[in-house]
Amino acid sequence: MSTNHLIPLARLDTAIRRVVRGFGSRPEEVEAVAANLIEANLKGHDSHGIGMLPRYAEAFVEGGLKTNASVSTVLDAGALLRLDGNAGFGQVIGAQAMALGIERARRHGCCTVALGNAHHLGRIGAWAEQAAAAGLVSMHFVNVIARPIVAPYGGADARFGTNPFCAGVPMQGRAPVILDFATSMIAQGKTRVAYNKGETVAPGCLIDDRGQPTQNPRYSVVPPIGALLTFGGHKGAGLAMMCELLGGALAAGMTQRTPGGVERRVLNGMLSVLVDPAALGDRAAFEAEALSFLDWAQASPPREGFGHVQVAGDAERTWKAERTESGVPVDATTWAEILRAAGLLGVDPAAVQQDAGLA
Ligand SMILES: NC(=O)c1ccc[n+]([C@@H]2O[C@H](COP(=O)([O-])OP(=O)(O)OC[C@H]3O[C@@H](n4cnc5c(N)ncnc54)[C@H](O)[C@@H]3O)[C@@H](O)[C@H]2O)c1
Repeated sequence: MSTNHLIPLARLDTAIRRVVRGFGSRPEEVEAVAANLIEANLKGHDSHGIGMLPRYAEAFVEGGLKTNASVSTVLDAGALLRLDGNAGFGQVIGAQAMALGIERARRHGCCTVALGNAHHLGRIGAWAEQAAAAGLVSMHFVNVIARPIVAPYGGADARFGTNPFCAGVPMQGRAPVILDFATSMIAQGKTRVAYNKGETVAPGCLIDDRGQPTQNPRYSVVPPIGALLTFGGHKGAGLAMMCELLGGALAAGMTQRTPGGVERRVLNGMLSVLVDPAALGDRAAFEAEALSFLDWAQASPPREGFGHVQVAGDAERTWKAERTESGVPVDATTWAEILRAAGLLGVDPAAVQQDAGLA
């Protein structure tokens, strides 16, 4: 089992910004990528935080990730936008796509944004949070173009990605409800984190390369690769399929149906639907009803083993408060990989180590 470093937020910020500058990114891109990745760690999703940087560095060196790219508009039909992410950093492309969708949803009451060819969009909740901050409800169906890693229901090998689904609802005077998860039992990055820490994964998440159940995360990290299982039986598997059909076939014009492949890039397709509650009727009535429902649901007496009924988004806010205060834990294997990635990008690993206070 590898040890954890606990890195104070300000130090981590400095260290990660130094690494990201190695991509040759403009200052705004450095800021967007570093802030988004660190935010994922702060919110408890280490799988989509700074531990992605080694993968990004390899994709960049291979030519699959383009720096300083922007979205281009392929189709503009008012409340329908089709965008190409030009294989740019998802942290920038996702924010630009949402900004365009937000402006249109304010103008037309709703907007459907079909985004294809974005490099890894990271934590999809970030995009629902951006929409919620603008007062909009949003839904996001996402597919993943990389090595297939998730088996279809009843299948014994991997046919698609961890296809996240996300929805966000702004709440008057309270934090928004942000439901954001991979449709696999666990996000693939969580198997990487478990593998790096020398831990096993929970039963029922993974099959090996012969289709047999296993708890060894290696079968999702190093060949021979098995497959993650979808959550919730045929229902979760159905949602995963919808993410591929909507985020992939419809939005991106590209689905995951090729085996293997050596490329390190990760592309996402995302179909986002943004709705302005005010345009749909009485905003105040919606807000009052939504708040009353949350209060009603949360008044349910806790079952044995549960503290209280939580709302989607609460867990991330709790993690963020804790980690902002006490620092971000980074396991030693992941940190070593980040230092190697720095070297790959021409950044002095010793300086990164010093920034993080680990020298
Ligand atoms: N870009 C990509 O290709 C890609 C692919 C897969 C996953 N992801 C991201 O990975 C991240 C992690 O996904 P995951 O599947 O591990 O998430 P998860 O299993 O931790 O589920 C997170 C969701 O469940 C909610 N939640 C957690 N505990 C709860 C409780 N007790 N009561 C009510 N709600 C609760 C959270 O608020 C959140 O909305 C997500 O941000 C997702 O977008 C991205």
